[in-house]
Amino acid sequence: MAMQRRTFLVGAGLATVAAGTLLRPSDHGAPYQPYFAQLNRALKAQGIGTPTLVLDLDRVRANAEQVLDHTRGKLALRLVNKSLPCLSLLDELGRLCGTQRQMVFSLPYLQLAARERPGLDILMGKPMPVAAAATFYREHRPSGFDPSRQLQWLIDTPERLAQYRQLAHSLQVPMRVNIEIDVGLHRGGVHSQDTLQAMARTLASDPLLQWSGLMGYDAHTEKIPDIAGNRARSRAHALAVYQHCADTMKAVAMPRQVTPLTLNTAGSPTFRLHDGRGAANEVAVGSAMVKPSDFDTDLLSAMQPAVFIATPALKVSDHFTAPYGAEWASQLLGSWDPNQRTSLFTYGGNWLATPVAPEGLALSGLIGHSSNQQILLGSGRQGLHPDDFVFFRPTQSEAVLQQFGDIAVFEQGRLVARWPVFPAMA
Ligand SMILES: Cc1ncc(COP(=O)(O)O)c(C=O)c1O
Repeated sequence: MAMQRRTFLVGAGLATVAAGTLLRPSDHGAPYQPYFAQLNRALKAQGIGTPTLVLDLDRVRANAEQVLDHTRGKLALRLVNKSLPCLSLLDELGRLCGTQRQMVFSLPYLQLAARERPGLDILMGKPMPVAAAATFYREHRPSGFDPSRQLQWLIDTPERLAQYRQLAHSLQVPMRVNIEIDVGLHRGGVHSQDTLQAMARTLASDPLLQWSGLMGYDAHTEKIPDIAGNRARSRAHALAVYQHCADTMKAVAMPRQVTPLTLNTAGSPTFRLHDGRGAANEVAVGSAMVKPSDFDTDLLSAMQPAVFIATPALKVSDHFTAPYGAEWASQLLGSWDPNQRTSLFTYGGNWLATPVAPEGLALSGLIGHSSNQQILLGSGRQGLHPDDFVFFRPTQSEAVLQQFGDIAVFEQGRLVARWPVFPAMA
């Protein structure tokens, strides 16, 4: 009996050790991959010692080529201004993709575009309060940009249409109106065919308003849980609603309708779902050109991450000791998890971004975030020294690209330029 119990206990003990070994985290740390080792050298060679947004232009070009391979000959392409908030980057992509079309989301960036790039064709990506539109006309100075031909306001309700109509009349300027339709996202836009018809009649009867198209953003289809054919249904629904809206609008005779119409849809998450056979004739793409991590999806698997935040490691330590009072906790964690044995502090932090290089660095569950000096833990196999760069990958490009001053442009293994970004404004 005693023998049996001993066998049982030994067996249970071995099982616990085995389970422990299995559950125990392995060491995820590794020195820089050659790509990041090169970036680290390039940043130091330029004498850079502050958090810097690095843009890999070779990868941006390859991403643009991927987009073009999909759209060429089938769909027009409109660059999403807010997701690529840098004139030089937008210029480069406009040139590569052969497009002057941009989707703009704020009054300051509309003003900037109209002033600095008067050849653009602009579709607003969200409806602006009529006061913002009035400000645009009041402050607009001749630059070569002709709002009556090159700007489409986005209008989402009959009430807003009435406000814009009044503005057009008080200023005596012609205005192009693109109608936002709700294809399932439910963020806004017209969802009733009767409302659409009423808006079409207003547009048809007014001498200063010109109907220029529709905008139906469909990114929700890739965000909803894909259960029991849900996603396929949602994609089909978005296409069908778009078609229905286009048919409703086209059924109303419009003497001053713009041709060709701008029938815009999609964004980075969904542009690959469109092939020109639906009612839409153009797609909007921004983020996918630089592929932040929120865009790591199957549909975008061919695109490469092209933006990184590089920030110097200020202090690198061969151990991790939590502040006085919680030192024991860090010791306990470090003895269990090899990835929590050493620590470093970076210049800045707490960005919408995750550490990616060198591998195996992570935030501390004990200490949390700091915008001033961010602690990161690792096994030490990263082999970092003070002033080496830690690379973070932004989760999104919008807003994040504007937090670091001029972008450092990396091309053919070297930093070749600094590009100013848009001032951070809403
Ligand atoms: C109306 C509209 N179209 C397109 C996009 C797509 O932008 P991106 O390609 O950067 O995802 C957005 C993003 O917010 C949007 O609001």
